[in-house]
Amino acid sequence: MPNSDQNEINQSTLSEDTHSEANADQIEAARKNTVADTVQDQNEVSSEDSSQQSIRDMLDDDEEASVFVNRDLVEPDTIIDEERIVGRDDQLKSVVSFLKPTLQGNRPPNMLLYGPAGTGKSLIIGAVTQQIIELCQSKGERFGVININCHPINTLDQAVYELVQTVAKDVNAEIGVPETGVSTKRKYRRLYKLINEHYDSVIFILDEIDLLVGRRANNEPAYSKLLYQLSRASNTNEIEGRVSVAALTNDPKFMEDIDGRAESSFNPRDVYFPDYDATQLREILENRRDAFRQDSLTSDVIPLVAAFAAQSHGDARKAIDLFRGAGDLADEWGDGKVTERHVRESQEEIDKDRSLKLVEGLTTQKKISLYATAAVACYSNRSRSSVPSPVGFNVYRWITDELDADQMTRETYVKYVKELATYGLISSSRKSRGRGGGMYMEFTFTGDPEAMMKRIVDDTRLEPIANQEELLQTVVNSQLREFHNQ
Ligand SMILES: Nc1ncnc2c1ncn2[C@@H]1O[C@H](COP(=O)(O)OP(=O)(O)O)[C@@H](O)[C@H]1O
Ligand SMILES: [Mg+2]
Repeated sequence: MPNSDQNEINQSTLSEDTHSEANADQIEAARKNTVADTVQDQNEVSSEDSSQQSIRDMLDDDEEASVFVNRDLVEPDTIIDEERIVGRDDQLKSVVSFLKPTLQGNRPPNMLLYGPAGTGKSLIIGAVTQQIIELCQSKGERFGVININCHPINTLDQAVYELVQTVAKDVNAEIGVPETGVSTKRKYRRLYKLINEHYDSVIFILDEIDLLVGRRANNEPAYSKLLYQLSRASNTNEIEGRVSVAALTNDPKFMEDIDGRAESSFNPRDVYFPDYDATQLREILENRRDAFRQDSLTSDVIPLVAAFAAQSHGDARKAIDLFRGAGDLADEWGDGKVTERHVRESQEEIDKDRSLKLVEGLTTQKKISLYATAAVACYSNRSRSSVPSPVGFNVYRWITDELDADQMTRETYVKYVKELATYGLISSSRKSRGRGGGMYMEFTFTGDPEAMMKRIVDDTRLEPIANQEELLQTVVNSQLREFHNQ
């Protein structure tokens, strides 16, 4: 604070003391005050120093202890410099050659960039279009890049609104249509108007386009309609300048679900993005080594991160996430250096988290089934925490009664829980009760059942059960006792 005050005052001193004697005194007085303030501030800081660290010192301290110097570089959404891109020469060459006509005032072809997740599709199209924007700017051409990610978008109407919003933001104009309550057609009209007013040529980038399915699963998918509209907008003169569309997708079968007329108007040039191998992943990471403080990475870290990521489908995003995760863990533990241990531990956390995330997508009935089963494993007083299906089912019944929820049959309960075995969350085996006792299933959790229960409670109606932990514990153990005494 004292610094910025002083700057202002020094500036006004410079501009004013040449022509005003009277002011000069006032300014001098003000300057003295500021100096006095500064001295006082410094005193306060140093007197506090003896008893307690200042906020600034604590922050400085932390920075020194961190293994990172530029953590942004290992954030997945950071736009990186061209020099850091490796192993995508062919794709870069293709995309550049397809988009080059823009610079000569011609229309580039439509494109389909496809390949597995984390293979650089968004990166490459972003890097090339950014350069074109800059080259066009220097020539006084207005080249618009309208880039949306379809992942969070549910319907065609929302997608068109998102396009309007993106353009409006880029050109600093009013959105000009409400999000709801008007037809999609009006949104298209607004989109075209904005484009015609502000751009000489445009490229639409529809990232993760396969996820824009729309509401009616049986009809033509929303992405097909959007592709049709946008790719013919210049033929119909709705857009006056040159238009091209780039669609990005992980889904190799994407084009199969496209309507015939959309296919012929979109008619893209393909650019394929294959997985990275461990060597390429290593290079990608090497190029971001400067995210970390010098000497804070032991030599085995990058090869190990690359090897883990190569195992999980050669996804550069996962490699970068793991790289960052290992660094964060080293910081958390205050180790000052990233080692193999941090990489392994961080990978384990990622794996654990992934299986828990699966749980979120289950239906309520499956969640209740899983919750009941996990409760038996978690609260059992017995030495073995495996769950006999009849016990799990009785606890499931108790829970559904408490919640006043629908109750499935025992067969359905068993089917649901067995299904979860396919995700690797639990294992199941058939057991016999011995002579004439019949068969049952036994479930064992591969991970921590308590963590799973927590994750389920996070997003369902199961909270009232979680609030009766002791009662649930009693129910579990009385059911177990009954089962084993039979
Ligand atoms: N060839 C590469 N060189 C450097 N970084 C890369 C490369 N490919 C991908 N990345 C990085 O990996 C992450 C995922 O890439 P992205 O382009 O989003 O993949 P996709 O769109 O194919 O799923 C991003 O952080 C990106 O910067
Ligand atoms: Mg992407």
